[in-house]
Amino acid sequence: MHAVKPKIDLGVNIDHIAVLREARKINDPDPLMALAVCAQAGADQITIHLREDRRHIHDDDAHRIIASSPILVNLECAIDPEIIRIVTALHPHRATLVPEKRAEVTTEGGLDVMGSYETILNTIKTLKSAEIETSLFIDPTLEAVDLSHKLGAQWVELHTGTYANLYAMRYSALPHSHHAIDELRLTRHELDERLTQALDAIKNTAEHAHSLGLKVAAGHGLNYQNVMPIVAIDTITELNIGQSIIARSIFTGLSSAVKEMKNLCQR
Ligand code: PXP
Repeated sequence: MHAVKPKIDLGVNIDHIAVLREARKINDPDPLMALAVCAQAGADQITIHLREDRRHIHDDDAHRIIASSPILVNLECAIDPEIIRIVTALHPHRATLVPEKRAEVTTEGGLDVMGSYETILNTIKTLKSAEIETSLFIDPTLEAVDLSHKLGAQWVELHTGTYANLYAMRYSALPHSHHAIDELRLTRHELDERLTQALDAIKNTAEHAHSLGLKVAAGHGLNYQNVMPIVAIDTITELNIGQSIIARSIFTGLSSAVKEMKNLCQR
C-alpha cells in the first residue's frame, strides 16, 4: 500500500492585480476583491510583495488584505529595516525575505544568504519576536539551505526560475525561448540535461531542507505546463504562483484559473 502523500498548498500571488491598477493609477481592479475570489476558488494562501518602490502593492492594500483575509497571508519583502518595521506592524502570518533590486522586472534570484548573513539574522530575530513566521527565498543549493537552517528560518522557498526558463526553452513555441537557446548554443540533448539538473537541484535541496526540519515552499515562473514535476516532489508542501494564474484569468476568469491550478496541485 502507498503511504498518503503530504498535501501541497497553493499560494496565489496577486501582485499582478495591483500592477494592472497602477497602469491607470486608479482604484480598479482592487487586489482585495481578488483575495475573496482566490479564497473561494480554493487557494490556501495569498502572497503579496510590498516592494520598496511600491510599484504595485501599497501599504494600504497589505493592511486591508491582512486584516480581512480568511486564508493565510504571506508577505514578501526586502531585508531593509524600514520595510521590516512596516511588515512587523502589518503582522502577516509569514514574511518571505527576498532580494530586491529597483531595476528588476521581477525577483531575479534567491537571497545572497552568505553575503547578507548578519542582516538576515537580525531580521529573523525581529520577525520572530513579533511572532511572524520567516521564510527565505533561496536558490536551490545545499549551501543556501544549510545557512537558512543555521539562521533559524522556519521556511525556505526554493526559486524555480531556472527550471521554468529551461522548461520554456525546451517546450515553448515562443520565439524568445528559441533566441535564448541560440544564445546558449545548446543542442536539444544538452537542454534536456540542463532541465534534468535544474529539477534534480530542486528535488535534492527540498529533501535536504525537509530533513533539517525546515518547511519547504517553491515558486517563480511556475505555470500550467511546468508545475507537475514540482508537485511530484513530496517534500515541497506549498507553491506560490502569480503570473500564470493571473494571465490565464484574463481569458477564463480568476475563479476558474485558480481552480484549474488547484486541481494540478493534488497528490
Ligand atoms: N515566490 C516569490 C518569492 C516571488 O517573488 C514571486 C514573484 O513575485 C513568486 C513566487 C511568483 O512568481 P510568478 O509570478 O512567476 O508565478
